[in-house]
Amino acid sequence: MRSDRRGVALVVALVGVLACAPADGPSTTGPRAGAPGIGDPDFPKDGNGGYDVSHYDLVIDYTPASKRLVGVTTIAASATQELSAFNLDLAGLDVREVAVDGAPATFTRQGDELTVRPAGPIADEARFSVKVSYSGVPRPIRDRADLGTYGFIPTADGAFVTSEPNGAKTWFPGNDHPADKAAFDFTITVPAGVTALANGEMSGKPTTSGGKTTYRWRERHPMVTYLATATLGKFELRQGRTSGGIPNLAAADPRFRSSLDRLYTTSAELTDYWATVFGPYPFGSTGGVVDDYAAGYALENQTKPLYGGFDPDESIIAHELAHQWFGNSLSIRRWKDLWLNEGFATYAEWLWAEHKGRRTAEAAFTDYYNRPATDEIWNYPPGRARPDDLFNDSVYSRGAMTLHALRRAVGDQTFFALLRTWAADHRYGHVTTDEFVQLAEKMSGKDLGALFDAWLFQPRKPSALG
Ligand code: TRP
Ligand code: ZN
Repeated sequence: MRSDRRGVALVVALVGVLACAPADGPSTTGPRAGAPGIGDPDFPKDGNGGYDVSHYDLVIDYTPASKRLVGVTTIAASATQELSAFNLDLAGLDVREVAVDGAPATFTRQGDELTVRPAGPIADEARFSVKVSYSGVPRPIRDRADLGTYGFIPTADGAFVTSEPNGAKTWFPGNDHPADKAAFDFTITVPAGVTALANGEMSGKPTTSGGKTTYRWRERHPMVTYLATATLGKFELRQGRTSGGIPNLAAADPRFRSSLDRLYTTSAELTDYWATVFGPYPFGSTGGVVDDYAAGYALENQTKPLYGGFDPDESIIAHELAHQWFGNSLSIRRWKDLWLNEGFATYAEWLWAEHKGRRTAEAAFTDYYNRPATDEIWNYPPGRARPDDLFNDSVYSRGAMTLHALRRAVGDQTFFALLRTWAADHRYGHVTTDEFVQLAEKMSGKDLGALFDAWLFQPRKPSALG
């Protein structure tokens, strides 16, 4: 599900005309191999070109004792060019078999790219299916100091799965970049006694036979790959609905049993509160999961934020649930726009403290603003997240300050109407910083160019109000 595909097709066509390359390279007509990246210059190999995924069907069997995963992923996609071959992202694991539209396809592996060559070409705009059978011991990504360990992380009793920014490829083959969103079905088989928690809602009761239990989950709303999870382990559950009527599921590893009730009630309260501030909750259920993996961080996995090894406080629950609107329903097309996720979710923490009468957003803003001009957030412009330091504090806190500076400039009424319009206009879609600036200018009737430039793009401390 990508909305920019006509633009991409046009650019590819023009490049083809200009390059006039021989067969199987770029050419104006005839089948060509899809690009190995989706076109994010900061992450050139992430995602893939030439097709657009609409649905992932993930069938997974996982054995915690051996850490072995046996998977079959079936992808429904449509071509955005005539394809002789295309790539999927997959890190490690052994591929046994690939079929395209039910017919065996040949494949090769190079780094984290799985290249699939179907028996015959796929026509432009044709819908097709890819079925990949694979297995092995998933290895999370841990080679980047700034990002920590992420992806499918085996734990003593199961797995802790947080894949931002590009760790989905550690456990299933796909188009691993937020520019391509899709619906997901999960069929997860684990030893009896282990619980499997994936996104969305259960699509049938768990069934047990031969000492194994199979769980089925469905996320019917578009989801980016990094928000997909199959968190496995021993969990205590609490289920019900929020006061506003949204199904709510909280889960806690037995070691965090004492967090369960608070996680449940706080998640319910925040989901309902954000719906009054940001507009209707975008998904079919809410909740959260606390696992005993000592990640020290949380991830906003769609419908099921995951908290790693700590008792989450209201502030972080406010943050992860705000992401359900900003980051999950509205997704970034390029990683450089990450402040549209993290600046908004951090500002939501300030809004929650303000709502509870603990500290106004103005006071939070001032605390940060009082950091000396030598503080490193002032030389990192948050409107351009850097691939080598994607999750810099500036993307979070100076991103949030940007929203507060905007609120001061346009007034509360316009500011909160803007947040709701932004969430409504791009529900389940993609967003860019330019689109946000344009909407802010349109709704306020003000020229906000200087404000956004000072707060988002300059490597220095903005003057008082920007
Ligand atoms: N998006 C997460 C948050 O703001 C932080 C995060 C970034 C993360 N990369 C991650 C969490 C990888 C888990 C794994 O809460
Ligand atoms: Zn966040």
